[in-house]
Amino acid sequence: MERSQGEAKEPPNREGIAAIARCYQGFDPAMYLRYNYTPPRADFTRTDSIVPWKLACLHQAFTEGDMTGETLVDVGSGPTLYQVLSGCEVFGRVVLTDFLEANRRELQRWLAGEQGSFDWTPYLQHVCQLEGRSPSAWREKAARLRSVVTEVLPIDVHQPCPLPPGSLPASGADCLVSSFCLESVSPDVASFTAALRRMGSLLRPGGHVLLIGALGESYYMAAPNVRIPVVPLDEAQVCSSLKVSGLSLLRLCVYTLPPDMRVGVDDVSGIFFVKARKP
Ligand SMILES: C[S@@+](CC[C@H](N)C(=O)[O-])C[C@H]1O[C@@H](n2cnc3c(N)ncnc32)[C@H](O)[C@@H]1O
Repeated sequence: MERSQGEAKEPPNREGIAAIARCYQGFDPAMYLRYNYTPPRADFTRTDSIVPWKLACLHQAFTEGDMTGETLVDVGSGPTLYQVLSGCEVFGRVVLTDFLEANRRELQRWLAGEQGSFDWTPYLQHVCQLEGRSPSAWREKAARLRSVVTEVLPIDVHQPCPLPPGSLPASGADCLVSSFCLESVSPDVASFTAALRRMGSLLRPGGHVLLIGALGESYYMAAPNVRIPVVPLDEAQVCSSLKVSGLSLLRLCVYTLPPDMRVGVDDVSGIFFVKARKP
């Protein structure tokens, strides 16, 4: 039988994984936020801006009524919170995770309401509007998010047990979200698929995965002189990796970057949004 891409039982590319981990030591949370989470990529007056597209996909997925349970885990949160702004209304426990202490600290700063932490207000206002609420309800949403985030944990998707032992219920999380993580920590498609399979092992049967990621990207800048290699993916590879990982695809949406979203901080050509379920 022919093996789908990424399924080959090659030994893990430990050298490639270690080289990427070294690149991440130069990751600057503030620069990363500036490059990707300010206009034009986060322009709430435009529906063709990247962030409003992602928020609309997340809102739709979380309001279809099929995602239930208590625990949502966000895999590779980085310094960002936009990816859990819809999910925090559905799940009573949200676990944020990242490989880097600098990113976990950045998240803790916002959770603690520290001055000078990134301003997620326009994001909160926008998601309130998607939910049919007034943008002025953003303070309630911020309070809800702060109350349901119970932990910000270290994670390594290349380890057999990515999270510290005992972090999750024995049956697994009810929902996983992951955005722009797996393809940007994996040296090749086989490593991406292995990381996806490992991530799927954190999920209970019947639970859902929302995966957002880059298409056709070979690098992104994580600080002025820090270039992180990315495994370039296409839609077929994403579908194949989901299948190999035992996840059933429910929906795949694709966004193509308009020319003015190509701002010189990466070579991404598109973005995929996947809703999948563990049978
Ligand atoms: C491109 S950023 C994505 C951040 C955020 N989720 C977003 O949507 O912008 C990739 C994240 O993966 C994290 N990371 C690096 N190596 C990792 C690993 N081995 N396991 C899990 N996450 C890792 C990085 O620290 C970084 O925050």
